[in-house]
Amino acid sequence: MLKKSIKSLALIGMMGSGKSSVGRLLAKEIKFDFFDSDIEIESASNLDIREIFEKYGEDYFRKAEFSIISRIISIKRNKVLSVGGGAFARKETINILKKNCYVIYLKASIMTLTSRLKNNLTARPLLNKKNLNKKLYELMKKRSIFYEDADLILDVDKLHLNEIVKKIKMSVDGKLND
Ligand code: S3P
Repeated sequence: MLKKSIKSLALIGMMGSGKSSVGRLLAKEIKFDFFDSDIEIESASNLDIREIFEKYGEDYFRKAEFSIISRIISIKRNKVLSVGGGAFARKETINILKKNCYVIYLKASIMTLTSRLKNNLTARPLLNKKNLNKKLYELMKKRSIFYEDADLILDVDKLHLNEIVKKIKMSVDGKLND
């Protein structure tokens, strides 16, 4: 269901689905502020994602992720927010995002994700070269049910960055809060 006037857009989906690149370009084109939950968590803790997982564990990271996302949402300005792949799989984070944002799921196949991620694992402690395919499959299986509940679902496998942004803009046309 569309919210009447859209002030915040949230991009969700698996690691490697393009949330950050799409979010950055989209925000620029519609003149909204851009936030990336992973970047905000890193700067708030002065640690990178991998270090946070290693030192404090995934549960700590998820709580930090929720609190950062809540803080970003409370900012009154119009914004595009890209969230880490696991954010939209945790009840309280899902609830706050659904309540406050127009949620867009960038849906990519395991094949696409694998090829994009195999040389890009630095900020992804849940993955490694050996387990990549299996782990992506497991995560996707658990998370799809939540992701599929987005306001907009875009199959991004065959789309160029510009085409994805264009489709999102078409979908929110006339509903942006300006
Ligand atoms: C995670 C995704 C990552 C990052 C962390 C955990 C996940 O963000 O938050 O490594 O659980 O899917 P991206 O989806 O931006 O890669």
